[in-house]
Amino acid sequence: MDARSLARSGGVAMSARVIVLPGDGVGPEVTAQALSVLELVCDQADIDLHVREMLIGGRAVDETNSPLPDDTLAACKEADAVLFGACGGPRWDHLRGEQRCEQGLLRLRRGMDVFANLRPVRVHSRLSELSPVRPAVVRGTDLIIVRELTGGAYFGEPRERAGSGPAETARDSTVYTAAEVERVARVAFGLARARRKQLTSVDKANVLITSQLWRDTVNAVAHDYPDVQLEHRLVDSFAMELVRRPADIDVVVTENLFGDILSDEAGVLAGSLGLLPSASLGVNHVGLYEPIHGSAPDIAGRGIANPYGAILSAALLLRHSLERDDLARTVEDAVDACISEGMLGPDLGGTHGTEAIGDAVRRQVALRLTAVGTAS
Ligand code: NAD
Ligand code: IPM
Ligand code: MN
Repeated sequence: MDARSLARSGGVAMSARVIVLPGDGVGPEVTAQALSVLELVCDQADIDLHVREMLIGGRAVDETNSPLPDDTLAACKEADAVLFGACGGPRWDHLRGEQRCEQGLLRLRRGMDVFANLRPVRVHSRLSELSPVRPAVVRGTDLIIVRELTGGAYFGEPRERAGSGPAETARDSTVYTAAEVERVARVAFGLARARRKQLTSVDKANVLITSQLWRDTVNAVAHDYPDVQLEHRLVDSFAMELVRRPADIDVVVTENLFGDILSDEAGVLAGSLGLLPSASLGVNHVGLYEPIHGSAPDIAGRGIANPYGAILSAALLLRHSLERDDLARTVEDAVDACISEGMLGPDLGGTHGTEAIGDAVRRQVALRLTAVGTAS
């Protein structure tokens, strides 16, 4: 029996090594709240949490000249989970190539081999009024985007820029292998099987040959999941369907670039980009957890960033890396209760700050964990 199973069966206290990468802009502000919620949960649940904070992004460039220092990557590969904030910002926008903050994040995802990025989107009933999309349309939305994370246009070779002046050319390449598509498709089918059994695969198969490979591969995997209803959609019209009938959508699987764009669009349904968490998973339980938003330079340093996306990412960490669905639900319920109470920041028409919202979540978590006990 491994440490996790023992812990679940009430044997020994389990331990978890978590690397925390606050990053830039609002990253440190929201990550502080997520970490403090995680610490409280682990404390109450007798999980021995070992936290190590490390550098990534602009701060790492400033201090080490690299957006992903070698020791950060090495520690992340060794850890049980990584909690990340956001990186990049105007101060580092002049950087090019491997020096860019965003490239540091991409190298981290690839280095950890976390190929499946889960981006759940749930619309809280209180917030359906706040979405620019009509309440009747967004109400009841509960979908999950599975974004392929370590392939496609983000990593394809050749990737180059040649010449200078008006004749300059640049090239990115979208490359996918069937094996890359198959493994992420299996994650998506598996999720759909445990949910409403509907999977929408989004591609651009009417134009791109990588999308044709994507579609053929997803169709082949579908034979192993006859209980899941599969539909294919082209990304342009699906972008429209996402805001027209979001409540009908269950699980979406799509390539890296389309998933990036569609998940920000989905943030509009929820009411704010600051609400959405993500989990990036590979073949084992090691995962990278981050809100889907960026460093939000326009509001950084003012203590008003929405921490719910980061806190919900910590919940996903509990679920997927520590296999404590019970504790993940506790955090999710605590967040729901806070939103119901009106603990909202300016992005959602409220007046509460990042820390006050974090405090409210901790109060709700404490109530729940002391009320029912934490033994599982
Ligand atoms: P962004 O996600 O940082 O911000 C977009 C809009 O959403 C802004 O108006 C911002 O104020 C708002 N917003 C984002 N997070 C919020 C939160 N927690 N609470 C309230 N409002 C929030 O996107 P951008 O402005 O296009 O990018 C800024 C920088 O962040 C760029 O350098 C970009 O490359 C980087 N970025 C990093 C990540 C990441 O590290 N994962 C993700 C996206 C963008
Ligand atoms: C995200 C971000 C990143 C991406 C950037 C910062 C590399 O937009 O996590 O959604 O495009 O994946
Ligand atoms: Mn994005």
